[in-house]
Amino acid sequence: MNKIIYTFFAVCLLSTSCDDGDLHPEETGGTEGLKVTMEVSFSGLEAWPSAYQIVLAAYGNDSGNPLMSKQIPAPKSEDETVSLDLNGLHEDAKTIGISILTKGRKLIYNFYTYDISNGTDDVTLPVSKIDIASYDRIQHQVFDNYCAACHGAGDKAAAGLYLTEGKSFTNLVNEKSTLSTSKKRVEPGMPSYSFLIDILTGDIVNYNHTDVLPQDELVTLIKTWIRDGAKEK
Ligand code: HEC
Repeated sequence: MNKIIYTFFAVCLLSTSCDDGDLHPEETGGTEGLKVTMEVSFSGLEAWPSAYQIVLAAYGNDSGNPLMSKQIPAPKSEDETVSLDLNGLHEDAKTIGISILTKGRKLIYNFYTYDISNGTDDVTLPVSKIDIASYDRIQHQVFDNYCAACHGAGDKAAAGLYLTEGKSFTNLVNEKSTLSTSKKRVEPGMPSYSFLIDILTGDIVNYNHTDVLPQDELVTLIKTWIRDGAKEK
């Protein structure tokens, strides 16, 4: 820093007009007071959570608890662009997230993150579309928490089905069920032809799956993903 100041004065001596006010923006640095703007439209709106909230948030060293956050209002349609900003950013902010938080403001899932640790200017996030019913959300919010323990994270995978990250997609989409004679585990575009939905909504196999998920809206999340084509990304 000293070097910069000396250089500055050296330049001042040589030039005729000098305003030391120019120094201060350089001295501030960091993210304090910056503004972050989001302009995003959302798809998969049926899977917008009601048990939790979707927010624009700033995180510091503790990536599980935001320093500040603003709730994103659910848009009425997929064509609507939601504009929101976080003003006067906290000086410790390192990452911006579009996230699902519990009502006690604990992080459940990040749809999107953006690194601002070296930021010195206001930013508009370089993202324009977010899928609320993404496969990545299902993996992290549903499979990792409620399914993987029996389906592949331990030493066996019940019914030969792996629901661990990196394996679950190919184990589900267009794969024959080992228990149903007529249905695939997931038939893209058709929730009612997907055995995955049958098993979560009816007591039809040896191990009843209807109480595995704490909220019905998580079944809606999976249905919406299948209906929208069961895409990996
Ligand atoms: C406590 C252990 C356990 C948990 C937790 C569990 N499952 Fe299962 N799952 C099983 C067992 C056991 C079977 C085989 C049942 C049978 O043979 O009748 C099975 C079968 C299945 C099948 C049928 C596979 C096929 O080939 O048709 C699907 C789909 C499935 N589970 C999905 C899930 C999902 C999704 C979750 C999380 C929401 C989950 N399971 C959580 C034990 C579990």
